[in-house]
Amino acid sequence: MKTAKFWCLSMGDMQILPGSRYRPSVKKPIWIIVLVLFVCVFLICAYIYPLRSSTACYVFPSRGCKVIADQLPPLPAREYTDDEIASHAVIRDILNTPPVSQNPKIAFMFLTPGSLPFEKLWDKFFQGHEGKFSVYVHASKTKPVHVSRYFVNRDIRSSQVVWGKISMIDAERRLLANALQDLDNQQFVLLSDSCVPLFNFDYIFHYLVHTNISFVDSFRDPGPHGNGRYSEHMLPEVEIKDFRKGAQWFSMKRQHADIVVADHLYCSKFQDFCQPGFEGKNCIADEHYLPTFFKIVDPGGIANWSVTHVDWSERKWHPKSYKAQDVTYGLLKNITVWCYYNCNLHNKAYTIFIP
Ligand SMILES: *[C@@H]1O[C@H](CO)[C@@H](O)[C@H](O)[C@H]1NC(C)=O
Ligand SMILES: *[C@@H]1O[C@H](CO)[C@@H](O)[C@H](O)[C@H]1NC(C)=O
Ligand SMILES: *[C@@H]1O[C@H](CO)[C@@H](O)[C@H](O)[C@H]1NC(C)=O
Repeated sequence: MKTAKFWCLSMGDMQILPGSRYRPSVKKPIWIIVLVLFVCVFLICAYIYPLRSSTACYVFPSRGCKVIADQLPPLPAREYTDDEIASHAVIRDILNTPPVSQNPKIAFMFLTPGSLPFEKLWDKFFQGHEGKFSVYVHASKTKPVHVSRYFVNRDIRSSQVVWGKISMIDAERRLLANALQDLDNQQFVLLSDSCVPLFNFDYIFHYLVHTNISFVDSFRDPGPHGNGRYSEHMLPEVEIKDFRKGAQWFSMKRQHADIVVADHLYCSKFQDFCQPGFEGKNCIADEHYLPTFFKIVDPGGIANWSVTHVDWSERKWHPKSYKAQDVTYGLLKNITVWCYYNCNLHNKAYTIFIP
């Protein structure tokens, strides 16, 4: 009873009497309130941010620890090497600087052993479109004899090309470097001596000039002729998840031509570790370098398909080659019509040249 009274008394006293006398007893509730507030704030914080630290996990073991596995940040991205940091910086700047040209042209770059069998056909194709194109010829075996004025004096200094080896890439880079000298060249089309145009010049010109992507064939092939050719010697720059395959013939926008010519880092990996016979594999550099390079540095900038039609249906080392009796009106119609419907509708493959 005494306690109850005392309690009543002290409550009554508090209301009447001046605070000074009772200060010590007022301090206690404030401390408690502060403490409770602090604990509340801590609990609210811990509830809202339950998994940011392992302390939270300690405080709420039953709730937090289970979720922690799902919410942990992904493993930190690999630390890039100095060369990669430098390379990515240069590439990003080039990609962010769109080229300007008052008089855009298409560079037609021919990779051939010698004379071009279809030069007369190309002559007809180019006729009347002077100023909208430029021609470059890389003849790796014999000096070509030219029959078209568009090809005369268009040979660039060339070197031998060994199938499957990096010398093929070297030749492509040599063509690109020569074609880049002309600031008006906006798309760089790589063609073989057996390519023929399937559409007229205007059609191809507008198609290529009004695009902001490159047409580089690229796909993931998990089989022995794709990822099976990958070598771990390419690490850390080239990981198997980025390893791609694709036919060699491309059409590339100017910025991409720039970064291909500037690239030493990734190219050297393919030079050293992607060649026929290395580690008992048959790595063909020209089928993997560009698709893999673009997968790493600008995956959204390429179409993943090429503007050249190649028939791999025979599943051999080389694509189907068309003999004279194969090349009928029906065949050409087939390829172009197939393309007309498929390319525009499904964005699959556009057929402009036949290598
Ligand atoms: C190309 O242009 C389109 C439309 O202007 C844009 O959405 C796209 O991001 C561009 N692509 C590249 C690789 O610049
Ligand atoms: C090409 O493939 C890459 C993945 O390898 C993808 O990121 C990119 O968006 C694709 N490009 C187009 C135009 O679909
Ligand atoms: C045209 O394509 C169809 C279907 O792909 C094929 O059956 C036919 O043989 C082709 N014709 C020629 C002339 O290639």
